[in-house]
Amino acid sequence: MGHVCPWWHAFAFDNQLRRLFLKPERIFSPHVDPGMTVLDAGCGMGFNAIALARMVGPEGRVIAVDLQPKMLDVLGARARRARVLDRIDARRCEADSLDVTEKVDFAVAFWVVHEAPDIPRFLAEIGFCLKPTAKFMIAEPKAHVSADDFGDTLAAADRVGMRLHSQPRIRFSRAAVLQRG
Ligand SMILES: C[S@@+](CC[C@H](N)C(=O)[O-])C[C@H]1O[C@@H](n2cnc3c(N)ncnc32)[C@H](O)[C@@H]1O
Repeated sequence: MGHVCPWWHAFAFDNQLRRLFLKPERIFSPHVDPGMTVLDAGCGMGFNAIALARMVGPEGRVIAVDLQPKMLDVLGARARRARVLDRIDARRCEADSLDVTEKVDFAVAFWVVHEAPDIPRFLAEIGFCLKPTAKFMIAEPKAHVSADDFGDTLAAADRVGMRLHSQPRIRFSRAAVLQRG
C-alpha cells in the first residue's frame, strides 16, 4: 500500500498557489459538461471537486469520496462558502473499497492511485462506476510515481477493461484519460 497523504499535509498542495499552475476548469473542460454526474475518487479537501461542481452546474452532481473524514470536513466547509454544497455528495470510504454504486459520466483520481492498497481493485471499482461512454482521468504526481510505475498502472487499468484514450499534459503529473472498451 502506498503512503496515504495525511490531512494536515494537504494544505501544502491544495491552496491558491496551486491554482497558478493547475487550472481544473482547463484540465476537465474537454470531458465535463453541465448536468453530468462526476466521481472524484480520493477528493481530498476538494481542489478539483469544487471546480467540478461549478462545471456540472445546478443539474449536475459530484460524488466526492475520501477515506479521511478531516478531508471531507474541509471540503464541506469550502463547498458551503463556494455555494456548491448542494451539488456535492461527499462520502467517506474504506481504503479497500470506494463503495460507489452509481454510474457516472466522468471519473477522476487525481494524485491518488499510488496511495491505494490494491491498485487493480481500486481501478476496477472505478471502472464499474463508468457509464459505457464515460471517461476516467488518472493523474499521478511525478515526484512520487515513476514513468515505469505509471506504465504499470495503465497496464493494470487495461487488464480491468479500461483502454488508453489520451495522455493530456498536466503539470507535475503523469496523466491519462481512459475509456471502457
Ligand atoms: C495527495 S491527496 C490528493 C487529493 C485530491 N485528489 C487533490 O488533487 O487535491 C490523496 C487523497 O487520496 C485519499 N486516498 C488515499 N487512498 C485512498 C483510497 N484507497 N480510497 C479513497 N481515498 C484515498 C487520501 O485520503 C487523500 O485525501
